[in-house]
Amino acid sequence: MEKIIYDFDTVIPRENTSSYKWDYIPGVLPLWVADMDFKAAPCILEAIQKKVDHGIFGYTRTPDSYYNSVIGWWGRRHGWTIHKEWILPVGGLVPGTSLCMTALSEPGDKIIMNTPAYNAFFHCIKDCGRELSENKLIYRDGKYSFDFEDFEERCKEAKLFLLCNPQNPAGRLWTREELERLGDICLKYGVTVISDEIHCDIVPPGSAYTPFAGIKEEFQQICVSLVSPTKCFNIAGLQVANIVAANPVLREKVSKVMDWWVYTDMNQIGEAALQGAFTPEGENWLDQMNVYVHQNFLYMRERFAQEFPQVHVCDLEATYLAWADFSALMPDTKELQDYLIKNFKVWINSGEIYGDARFVRINIACPRATLKEGLDRVFAGLRAYISR
Ligand SMILES: Cc1ncc(COP(=O)(O)O)c(C=O)c1O
Repeated sequence: MEKIIYDFDTVIPRENTSSYKWDYIPGVLPLWVADMDFKAAPCILEAIQKKVDHGIFGYTRTPDSYYNSVIGWWGRRHGWTIHKEWILPVGGLVPGTSLCMTALSEPGDKIIMNTPAYNAFFHCIKDCGRELSENKLIYRDGKYSFDFEDFEERCKEAKLFLLCNPQNPAGRLWTREELERLGDICLKYGVTVISDEIHCDIVPPGSAYTPFAGIKEEFQQICVSLVSPTKCFNIAGLQVANIVAANPVLREKVSKVMDWWVYTDMNQIGEAALQGAFTPEGENWLDQMNVYVHQNFLYMRERFAQEFPQVHVCDLEATYLAWADFSALMPDTKELQDYLIKNFKVWINSGEIYGDARFVRINIACPRATLKEGLDRVFAGLRAYISR
């Protein structure tokens, strides 16, 4: 295993810092909201500090260096060539998703989504007045895969496919072959793809994600990709993200909705942070973070194997959100979630909000000591809950 040079072990208190995760219910150890309890990479802090030292925060014109950072990152790290004019900066990927849905479909249109799914996606589809076409992932022998036959049937009637690549919460890193098969079906039926790739760089050492649009030119023409450094570099509070659309017709539609709906200049701090992140030093930090998170995962899985072997912890091919099958213990984990919060002051997410209550989602992007404390509480609570 690679040696870790950055400090991911120090526990940095986050209470009373306007943290959604830590201040939502004070006093509860949170292993839920998807941000990390690690300090951002030094190169990001330096880039922000430079802005702060300058001290003037007027309206921002997105500089070429920003676009070059995005282009450089995906070209270097993922072999996907992006051009400047394809990039539409936006404040976040959830608003970006709603924006793309609004621009690329009509009220009442069907949008295919794989479930279980990131909870906000359900709201995006509903709030935009579109109809969810649920293509359930197949869960067999503790692993997830696509149901291609069902997907193809749905494509006959759908306008859009909302892809989550890699997948939250199932933790799947879709292979090139899987994505290619999906994309070919979309091409066949004229379905446009919105590909959320926010978790793209959170993968175990030695793994890499495949940008959907980068697979082939035909996919590029039917896809808008949603990319951002916020999840992978723990800068979600800085609200910097991008919609990447190679097809000028799709881009124009998205751009128009953006202008009347969410037009805003870029946040200067977010702009600086992105450029700090997408550097060789940022890359180094990211690779080290992935080693640490992977070690956390192995630690967590081992603890479950020792204490509750009935719980199946799915392989974590991507994201720092472990997904565990509690169905051998209970059919629905919502009550357990509430019980653990109330009585054991630890918060893990029942899979209910993602569309499968048999599961639990656990955020493991924290110092090992925090994870240990959290798991101690979960196991003690689970024992008490079962023996009530
Ligand atoms: C798949 C996915 N998309 C988007 C987001 C949030 O994006 P943003 O904070 O840019 O709105 C998350 C957060 O967990 C996520 O898991």
